[in-house]
Amino acid sequence: MKVMVLGAGAIGSLTATLLARSEQVDELVVASRRLPPARALVKKIGKKHLTAKQLDADKVGDMTKAFKGVDMVVNLVLPRFNLKIMDACVRAGVHYLDTATDLVLTEDKKGDRIERTPEQIQLDRDDLWKDHDLTAMLGWGCDPGLTNVFARLGADRLDRVDEILVRDGDNSTIEGYEFASLWSADTLIEEVQMDALAYYDRRFVRLGTAEGEEVFPFPDPVGPQTVYNVDHEESNTLPLFIGKGLRNQDFKISLPKEFAEFVRIGKKWGMTRAEPIPVRSKFYNTTVKVAPRDVMTALLPVPVDMASKVHGSTCVGTVVKGEKNGKPAGWFFYTMMSHDDCYQKYGYHAVSYTTGAPPVVGFEMFARHEITRRGVFPPEVLDPVPIVKHLPDWDLPYGERPEVAA
Ligand SMILES: NC(=O)c1ccc[n+]([C@@H]2O[C@H](COP(=O)([O-])OP(=O)(O)OC[C@H]3O[C@@H](n4cnc5c(N)ncnc54)[C@H](OP(=O)(O)O)[C@@H]3O)[C@@H](O)[C@H]2O)c1
Repeated sequence: MKVMVLGAGAIGSLTATLLARSEQVDELVVASRRLPPARALVKKIGKKHLTAKQLDADKVGDMTKAFKGVDMVVNLVLPRFNLKIMDACVRAGVHYLDTATDLVLTEDKKGDRIERTPEQIQLDRDDLWKDHDLTAMLGWGCDPGLTNVFARLGADRLDRVDEILVRDGDNSTIEGYEFASLWSADTLIEEVQMDALAYYDRRFVRLGTAEGEEVFPFPDPVGPQTVYNVDHEESNTLPLFIGKGLRNQDFKISLPKEFAEFVRIGKKWGMTRAEPIPVRSKFYNTTVKVAPRDVMTALLPVPVDMASKVHGSTCVGTVVKGEKNGKPAGWFFYTMMSHDDCYQKYGYHAVSYTTGAPPVVGFEMFARHEITRRGVFPPEVLDPVPIVKHLPDWDLPYGERPEVAA
């Protein structure tokens, strides 16, 4: 198959590296807004069936032209381009896979009644994609991605599902930096500044950002971590697709509290805005247009450059609790990886790996006709067992532990 990876950042670089080794890939194009990083990545991977391309995910016409003849586009740019990329895929007749949704597509805030979640705007295209005999696999990273697969795995073992809690932990330090994001800082700021979507008592709610502090006991070596609610994709889809009476669902991540506070205050000041504003320079007596969020991200290191500097481990997983044969039952399903080991083996940190490898598992299952569904759907609609069986194909660790006290 001919595959295009769109985006050559922390995640796209890893996905392209693994796809280049896949027997299902005959041709691989790495496309990004700027040609030099795409070219550098192709050179680093060093295989003959790879090419680099300059392509702007904001331009549907250019993408439609570039996608012609491609079998699948793996979207690893910022989620604000998802709908445009999907439009171009339909026009060019190309299958699609992504790892994130655009969380700002709806504008509800804490206390609002939630009519529709942002990801439903992508899911609404289901009929259109089916009409075109095309597949759009949404949210195929680590979280969302593996976490959705784990949710289905647990739900399938239960007669009734009470709660599904997604927990993302990391105990790492980053050499030379007090704070750095290991993936798109733009996306991190987005999900922390938004009022967090959750599903409590069978209703969607918006919580204030970085609320719900708790200490979650991740397995060693990550260990106990303080986690907070942030806005995330799983809460957009799991309540719609899991069934079995699911009552509560939320997402929490370990974050430095001061970062959450900084983003919360920054939002009040307008510093998290992604739209350009005129800024007058007192030094040069000129006015330029700059998005305040771009200033914030420009002050942080580039995530893909952090690979050798991260020390510690990441653990991401899903608690699924409910009832089986009249008795309480539950598990924590997770993936866990050491950043240091991952760098030694692959030259990337573990967040790149655990996010960038699942798209390869998904793509290969699609290429081998193990995933044949058409339309637009999240991972939890599929049978999780074959997906989990394929995780070792790409060295993705999987673990589970019982979670319910007798
Ligand atoms: N599901 C998960 O577990 C998970 C976890 C982490 C991240 N993600 C998602 O993965 C995606 C990639 O994240 P990342 O950490 O790799 O981000 P990143 O390191 O910032 O890389 C983003 C890449 O997209 C390119 N890009 C940005 N705007 C573009 C445009 N208009 N046209 C073409 N290319 C463009 C960037 O190019 P420049 O260098 O020119 O800006 C860069 O190569 C994001 O959507 C993120 O939300 C998912």
